[in-house]
Amino acid sequence: MPRSLSGRNFLKLLDFTTEEIQYLLELAKDFKRLKRTNTPHKYLTGKNIVLLFEKTSTRTRCSFEVAGNDLGMGVTYLDPASSQMGNKESLEDTAKVLGRMFDGIEYRGFDQDIVEDLGRYAGIPVWNGLTTEFHPTQMLADVLTIEENFGRYKGLKMVFMGDARNNVANSLMVVSAKLGINFVACGPKDNMPDAKLVATCRKIAKENGCTITLTDDVKKGTKNADVIYTDIWVSMGEPAELWEKRIKLLSPYQVNDAVMANANPEAIFLHCLPSFHDLETSVGREIYEKFGLKEMEVTDKVFRSPQSKVFDEAENRMHTIKAVMYATLK
Ligand code: CP
Ligand code: NVA
Repeated sequence: MPRSLSGRNFLKLLDFTTEEIQYLLELAKDFKRLKRTNTPHKYLTGKNIVLLFEKTSTRTRCSFEVAGNDLGMGVTYLDPASSQMGNKESLEDTAKVLGRMFDGIEYRGFDQDIVEDLGRYAGIPVWNGLTTEFHPTQMLADVLTIEENFGRYKGLKMVFMGDARNNVANSLMVVSAKLGINFVACGPKDNMPDAKLVATCRKIAKENGCTITLTDDVKKGTKNADVIYTDIWVSMGEPAELWEKRIKLLSPYQVNDAVMANANPEAIFLHCLPSFHDLETSVGREIYEKFGLKEMEVTDKVFRSPQSKVFDEAENRMHTIKAVMYATLK
């Protein structure tokens, strides 16, 4: 049993032990059962949380809001235009003020340093809802989805395809190392996770009996994979001018039929979402007009195939975020 997580921040998975991550996953399973059976679980009635979003969101915001409501808490949402943070008031002052009024703070935005500073000054638990470097709450949902499909996660092979230096890829590498999942970053050589982070993860992976592999070879990288994962090619906060360069760089790493056929026949496809797999988005249509691409990081066929578990994964965001809030606030 891990030591209590009560009062802790949830800023990145490197701060948590294997046992603590496993405990959060078990808790999430309990909460999923309660939700599915319509069993009330207002365990945190009387508490209040604030959600600070400096970037847009559907899943993360809704997960924190619904999970907060289900736990009986009051939830306040602040977008960048409706708070003084960074404009008229320093991060430190904002954190101290929010810490006097609320019981927990969610932050989505830019540098990891910002969320680390919030955690330092607020005096109440701070949860990272995505930074440029990491997306830790996403990881719990991903591993829960893997476990639901395979009955386990330890010893499986997970491959991240594409922009292997982004927040999701970094976080997948960390969670894999912590939980004994063999992780492969499959993308262009000069677009790999930070070397220092790779070294840290390899050390953790060794302790947990798994490997971290970086490769630009799609065939080798995806061979017999159990989980094929991808993410958009230009992340929030990056300039739109990058699309052209990234399309050229990352197109060979698209998740398509050939990739899935090379993986384990039982393999699942995961994506944190949102995804550009058709022309039903304004960005997707713009890219099509400029570059002639109808689908990007994943084909529409794979996205909609039975192997794709992306909507289970999205639902699991809510159950796992609930577990994080409960564990740190109870
Ligand atoms: N996966 C994810 O974080 O989705 P949102 O950007 O919609 O929150
Ligand atoms: N890498 C993506 C993840 C979105 C959930 C981004 O940061 O925009």
